[in-house]
Amino acid sequence: MITRALFPLDPDVAFLNHGSFGACPHTLLAIQHEWQMVLEREPVAFFHALPARLQQARKALADFVDADPTDLVYVTNSTYGANIMAATMARQLKPGDSVLITDHEYGACVRAWKNHLQGTGIHLKVCHIPMPIPAQADLEDIIWKEVDSSTKAIFISHITSPTACLMPVGGLTSRARQAGIMMLVDGAHALGHLPLSVRDLGVDMYTGNCHKWMCAPKGSALLWVRPDLQPHAFPVITSWGADGLSVGDGAFIDEHEYTGTRDPSPFLTTPATIEWMKEHDWWTTVDRAHAVVCYGMERLMELGLKPMSADWSEQKLLMGTVLLPEEVDGPDLQRRLLSAHNIQVICMQWLDKPLLRFSVHGYTTTEEVHQLLTALKHELML
Ligand SMILES: Cc1ncc(COP(=O)(O)O)c(C=O)c1O
Repeated sequence: MITRALFPLDPDVAFLNHGSFGACPHTLLAIQHEWQMVLEREPVAFFHALPARLQQARKALADFVDADPTDLVYVTNSTYGANIMAATMARQLKPGDSVLITDHEYGACVRAWKNHLQGTGIHLKVCHIPMPIPAQADLEDIIWKEVDSSTKAIFISHITSPTACLMPVGGLTSRARQAGIMMLVDGAHALGHLPLSVRDLGVDMYTGNCHKWMCAPKGSALLWVRPDLQPHAFPVITSWGADGLSVGDGAFIDEHEYTGTRDPSPFLTTPATIEWMKEHDWWTTVDRAHAVVCYGMERLMELGLKPMSADWSEQKLLMGTVLLPEEVDGPDLQRRLLSAHNIQVICMQWLDKPLLRFSVHGYTTTEEVHQLLTALKHELML
């Protein structure tokens, strides 16, 4: 059973925002610290032994996401993974081609796309997704309608950040494959959140965070690339590549794994993270957390708030999002919930709508959700 006592989280704060930066338990932080001490005791020996250790760590993560260990590398975060996707497309596509995204993508990744495509003549086309967000099948049609002959790639979140909506990645991928369009998926929220087989997903590139729902130490994420695209995956940092130390797992690993001196302890702690998840009966934990999300969503709807997604209850996510009354100032409400009620939750203005997104992890209690409901009744006079 995952409880709050396993985490260094502030006991005075109702923490309903795991979704932003995750949270890491004491046990894994201690293992991370041990790795840092191995490094600091003998830095030269540590970095010489690093490729072999990373090879093992890659194997553990590859097993977890059902992928081949030579098709994925550790990167520090999904932003990094998205930058590699954008830098790669900037070199692979031609002027006049376009990349389709939605207006529910993570802002930093959108900036990365704009930055890398600047001056290439490759366009970023943005599909507008209405709110409340329609059910999966309709959503797939809405996105696919924006595809035209210039569309050469689709970049989409597996679970959207602001609106916590599961995107129809499977359906879009089938259509994209038939049409010869590349699928690039930002799975920042997906690892440990949804059972995931990257192999079965059939996408072209996938990035996702271990430091979010899996609870790994901050700075552990993956980038997976389809084998025949790997030679073209552009490393945003050029380091020693094949001229450096290598375990012979191929040019893709050599080019992307070592980016210069840095602290690789989050990567090396990821296998222990996966073990920790297993010890805590992970998918049962996820089921329980999802039940708390449903409970919270139902109570919020009883207060008159509308769910962000039409089929939220079928999406089995660990975040719930509701639309707030139009006149509410989201960021101001978020500040008041923290300062007056000790509740850490996201309230924001997304496009033209104020919304509230709450997260539930295994350690979240129903009492914390009740605290939020009470505070909202008070603040919004519901
Ligand atoms: C959909 C999505 N993409 C990318 C990111 C960026 O993750 P990171 O800051 O770990 O790079 C986030 C962060 O929450 C996200 O929600």
